[in-house]
Amino acid sequence: MAVSWYTVIVLVATALGASIGLKFIPYRVPSNEPVIKTSRILRTLKQVSEKQVLEKSACGRVWVTVHSPNINQGDRVVLQDAIELNWDFTNCDAVPKSIGLFDDRPGSWNNALQVFPIDAEQGYVITTISLGEPAPPAGWDKGPGLKGPHCLWPWAGAGDGSASITSYNCLKIQPSWMEDNPEINKLRIGELAVAGTHNAGAWRFDTEISAVSRDSFVLCQDRSIWAQLVHGIRYFDFRVAYYDFYPNEDDRYWLNHNLIRVRPLVPLLKEIRAFLDNTKEIVFLDAHHFPIGFYEPDGSPIRAVHQGLIQLVQRELGPHVAYARDFGTGAGTRGPTVQSLLDADKRLLFSYVDNAIVSENNWLWPILPHLWANTNNPTELFTYLDQAIGAVHQSNARSPMHSAMAETTPTVLDILFLRGSLRENANAVNRNVTQRLLTRWRQNANIVSSDFFLGNDVVDVSIAISLERGRATKQSSQL
Ligand SMILES: *[C@@H]1O[C@H](CO)[C@@H](O)[C@H](O)[C@H]1NC(C)=O
Repeated sequence: MAVSWYTVIVLVATALGASIGLKFIPYRVPSNEPVIKTSRILRTLKQVSEKQVLEKSACGRVWVTVHSPNINQGDRVVLQDAIELNWDFTNCDAVPKSIGLFDDRPGSWNNALQVFPIDAEQGYVITTISLGEPAPPAGWDKGPGLKGPHCLWPWAGAGDGSASITSYNCLKIQPSWMEDNPEINKLRIGELAVAGTHNAGAWRFDTEISAVSRDSFVLCQDRSIWAQLVHGIRYFDFRVAYYDFYPNEDDRYWLNHNLIRVRPLVPLLKEIRAFLDNTKEIVFLDAHHFPIGFYEPDGSPIRAVHQGLIQLVQRELGPHVAYARDFGTGAGTRGPTVQSLLDADKRLLFSYVDNAIVSENNWLWPILPHLWANTNNPTELFTYLDQAIGAVHQSNARSPMHSAMAETTPTVLDILFLRGSLRENANAVNRNVTQRLLTRWRQNANIVSSDFFLGNDVVDVSIAISLERGRATKQSSQL
């Protein structure tokens, strides 16, 4: 009896988005608790299992990612966005023998689109099937839809040949993960684990001359800001530039990748606004670099240009903005709790890289430190981040948050000689980023920002880690 109750609770918890694949903090049913009607639990479980269980495993886990580089299949056939199946059965008594790709919750191997042998405790395979361009499910395509995690079409299932499929999971959206998991509300923002995007606005060009969606060295993302939010990204690293040749002030602000103009800013702010208007999620927006138009040649800020940006953010996002002067908790602290931001219904925190401007506008949040390895070498990236993530919380830190920049940076020579691409760079590190977050970074990671985030599992793993921290934390006394 006790065993089945435990199973029921674990499954229900999993269905509600609870910690997935990570070791559960065992939920004990106290023996002197009033007996809950079993039939009711079973009924709940049945509804839950039929509708909502998106991920299941007795030990270890499987997950779905998207291969970021193109795959040349010969004869000028190029496979884009190939689906990858990943598994980790480290420390499990038995490792399943096969993993398959399915287009619905895996029930039988007969329905698998492709099946591969599992030859190690952990690993991945790249299928020859493309994700395609599925719209976000459950009504989230252009506006708000149903709460909770929902599956895009691909599922992974693992098990033994003819026997049943014992582990499964799908590629998800997580449009309401903060609201779905109130256990995290007691955490301070510096204690959350949050998925972010590096150069968030550098997805598909939207200029007078280009609508290119894939290139080698400029675009870092392939999902719109709206879609990133729907997938569960809550931190955006923005690089803003100013071009005074546009007559209309609104048109002068752009999102850039360094010196290259990618998209106008204002429509992206409107996407963030629509998301905040229709959810209870918290979003961290970081103006992290001003490559063009914000500084005099001598390095002093052009105040009118900074003020113009600040006013645009106020105009577009104003009702949602959490002022640093109201919610800041001082140097060396981890900032306000999620609960205090929800109670005030202020859910947009805008951090700004220039402290002179911050000191004149005390609603802005101070520089959000980026842990940036500035290397094109994956081994150096991880050596740096392993050390930096453990070392950041200092008693004089101005910002309650920090962002691990989990991507490599091409050198000028890489770009000149077209060595690799940002997609290949992302592919060389994204799987290790997932793995590191589950292990060495699990204790101290805050924001983890990546390129082509569908190539890692940072969204789901961060949610699980935030939950794990929420359950381990006593209710905070202040704020
Ligand atoms: C990434 O992970 C793989 C598999 O665990 C490992 O062999 C490889 O050395 C890792 N790469 C880096 C740069 O740490």
